[in-house]
Amino acid sequence: MVGLGPRRQPSRKGSMADMPRDLLGEIRRLEDIFTVDTPKLKAISDHFVSELAKGLSKEGGSIPMNPTWCMGFPDGHETGTFLALDMGGTNLRVCEIRLPEGKGEFDIIQSKYRMPEELKSGNAEELWNYIAECLAEFIAYHHEGEKLDKLPLGFTFSYPATQDYIDHGVLQRWTKGFDIDGVEGKDVVPPFEKAIAERGVPIKLTALINDTTGTLIASAYTDSEMRIGCIFGTGCNAAYMEHCGEIPKLEHMNLPKDQEIAINCEWGAFDNEHKILPRTQYDVIVDKDSPRPGQQAFEKMIAGLYLGELFRLVLVDLHENPNVKIFEGQDISVLKQAYSLDSSFLSDIENDPYENLQETHDKFLAELKLKCTKPELELVRRLAELIGTRSARLSACGVAAICKKKGYKTAHVGADGSVFNKYPHFKARGAQALKEILDWDKGRDGKPLVPGQGQDPVDIKPAEDGSGVGAALIAALTLKRVHGGNTYGIRDPESMKN
Ligand code: GLC
Repeated sequence: MVGLGPRRQPSRKGSMADMPRDLLGEIRRLEDIFTVDTPKLKAISDHFVSELAKGLSKEGGSIPMNPTWCMGFPDGHETGTFLALDMGGTNLRVCEIRLPEGKGEFDIIQSKYRMPEELKSGNAEELWNYIAECLAEFIAYHHEGEKLDKLPLGFTFSYPATQDYIDHGVLQRWTKGFDIDGVEGKDVVPPFEKAIAERGVPIKLTALINDTTGTLIASAYTDSEMRIGCIFGTGCNAAYMEHCGEIPKLEHMNLPKDQEIAINCEWGAFDNEHKILPRTQYDVIVDKDSPRPGQQAFEKMIAGLYLGELFRLVLVDLHENPNVKIFEGQDISVLKQAYSLDSSFLSDIENDPYENLQETHDKFLAELKLKCTKPELELVRRLAELIGTRSARLSACGVAAICKKKGYKTAHVGADGSVFNKYPHFKARGAQALKEILDWDKGRDGKPLVPGQGQDPVDIKPAEDGSGVGAALIAALTLKRVHGGNTYGIRDPESMKN
């Protein structure tokens, strides 16, 4: 088998022996369409490099490459007390972060509020009111009876936004299945500020940030080799530091060429024009049935929101295909519901430790009311491996592309998100793919490389809390530079000084 990356021991070799011919043929077909071999990985990465540059050009490209006005890394000595708000997909998190004198230190208190599902397809006013209510509740609880000055807030808004200033962000388009009316094409800051002002919440929005930028900065706070921040979660994206001299679309601002600015790539949009990614018929359906067809081509092949759906679509197809007919004669109505499986369904299958896949069998019965035969169990296990492996290997193409663009031979990459943290083998498979793309044979220690064991020249590591600590740090860095006289991308420097 070509380039599928490390697999868990014990090997399940031979388990296909009693597989009926038609199912075996089907597995071979799935292996063929979901496997991304080394030459393809390299071709994707090379195309990715040129698309990153295109996004920075005046003409622009598919990848937005959004300048964030987060200008430079922390030195570990940032101080102050900050609020951080994280509008994630499933939860809303509010944090208060204290950055004390000690280098790289922080204290955090936080509350989590569930984002009601109906809000994701509701209207703008409901969204801002809900967020403001949560902030008001947090302040009331943690600062009862105190007279507060306006606390600086870092707001992690993890969607593509055009920022003319650090406290400004016009939503380019919703991603990750969000579809809230009346937000796209508008600056999200004024309605947010209006909702908090109406409730008298003592907050000053200092920085609007992306989760990837937060991840980059939070990780760099404690690690000076940190170069890229990535999220492999519901969505997939990265941020890195670029020199202003490399950003033609900011040329008109005459920024110093060697001034650094974090770029939120929004690489989920890579290959929206379908030039290079090996899309399957199932990827085409995921896209067509999503709220924003034609957008986020790369993300839809790899991010957590879509892995379960891809898996589901393949199984429905194999049930309906008269030459294959898995789950023959059974009622597949539960499986028929779109987005009824999330990526943890695949994680659980890949984590099933038993040779006879008993846990997978029980899971199908309990959750989908389907009784799998042994060959069917082998097929679903292989399918989960294929989808999970493809996700990790394609993700590595983005990381490799940024390293190639920047000429990084070694780097630390901070990564966060449910897929990175919870999906079995994701890290090892990604590390294996990086090794293939970047042609490493030795590790940093000069010894033969075992990918993912800490000696990889480009090492993807678990990140610090980007949307909490990262957001606070970016707010701190912003205030610090305004006080120092660097007011690039600051709408109203005076109001920031108060
Ligand atoms: C989506 C969003 C992006 C975010 C990523 C991870 O790709 O568009 O802004 O960083 O998901 O949450």
